[in-house]
Amino acid sequence: MSVKFAVLGHGVVGSGVVELFYKNRKSIEKRAGTEMDIKYILDLRDFPDSPYKDKFTKDFNDILNDDEVTAVAECMGGVEPAFTFVKACLEKGKSVSTSNKELVAEKGDILLAAAKANNCNFFFEASVGGAIPIIRPLHRCLAANDIDKVAGILNGTTNFILTKMYNDNMSFADALALAQKLGYAEKNPTADVEGHDACRKICIISSLVFGKHIYPSSVFTKGISEIDLADVAAADILGHAIKLVASVRRLDDGRILPAVMPMLVPHENIMAGVNDVFNAVLVYGDGIDQAMFYGRGAGKLPTASAVMGDVIEAVKHKVTVFSQTWTSSDDNSFVAPVNELCTKWYFRVPADCESVAEGAYTDENGISFITEENLSFDEAAAKAEKLNALAFLPVLD
Ligand code: HSE
Repeated sequence: MSVKFAVLGHGVVGSGVVELFYKNRKSIEKRAGTEMDIKYILDLRDFPDSPYKDKFTKDFNDILNDDEVTAVAECMGGVEPAFTFVKACLEKGKSVSTSNKELVAEKGDILLAAAKANNCNFFFEASVGGAIPIIRPLHRCLAANDIDKVAGILNGTTNFILTKMYNDNMSFADALALAQKLGYAEKNPTADVEGHDACRKICIISSLVFGKHIYPSSVFTKGISEIDLADVAAADILGHAIKLVASVRRLDDGRILPAVMPMLVPHENIMAGVNDVFNAVLVYGDGIDQAMFYGRGAGKLPTASAVMGDVIEAVKHKVTVFSQTWTSSDDNSFVAPVNELCTKWYFRVPADCESVAEGAYTDENGISFITEENLSFDEAAAKAEKLNALAFLPVLD
């Protein structure tokens, strides 16, 4: 018997899923233990030159009402209509594999419950870290650990931009345009640049690790749009690289502290060497100490690789994988505010008497900066105001 699946969306990722499936069909079928084929590709646009043009439909009901379709790859992006489509598929017992971070971060609890109720699976390996296997390792290979901290570079576009600024002195705008041209950025790059995409990904990781749904609205999120080439240069003098770090840690009282913000990462920290579109996730657990997962965090085939891996899992698993789940939560009291983050801070300051009195260092290009240990977020903001700081950033410990 041949298993039939459908692909929702034929954009960068969806077209990558189709391409990768037909490229590696023989080995995919061997690993799935069954013959497979794509029966439908859903997209409102026409693709008259596609070799798969006979598979396209504009009507989701063709897929929903076809009992031969038992698995679906959702690569549309956005919450709606993806949520309605995915929920309807799960309620019909069709397993869904998605690359849609926004969908999982906003509605993951509901969709996981729908999958469980209908004895199928909602998989989302591609929603975090592109090609990097991180979701399945977290709930399977590392299942014996008490994981208390995860920190990572979870957005390829911003890492690409920061790398271009550092290596090539490229302006922020030029680097963003190049990332968009290469297909890394979201449709609206604000989600990348302002940290919302990384926020969704750390919400997914946090929900999976700590077992309760963490909503993006409860996570402090700051992007990289205010990072100046002067900060990149100053950080380098200090022996650091600037990275957009998404992290979550469990505090002593059991609450968790998730946050997304640009940080100075010491050159000796392995994350400082993660460049271009690559992502990295560092997981800290009592058994493993730490483990790092590294790979391409965005792009057509890297993301399609993760989606297709999930489709193969969905074909192989006839029952719900119960280790990959979390519960709904309407009480946010277990999420600590960002002010409880106490760390070292960097301030870029005007080269005036006030900053000199505070002990600022001025380099040969006239960039002045200063650092201070052990400040909370509010204390750092107050100090920045006192110094008339042009920028201030936390330092990763
Ligand atoms: N825009 C995202 C990124 C795509 O740059 O990481 C992958 O999620």
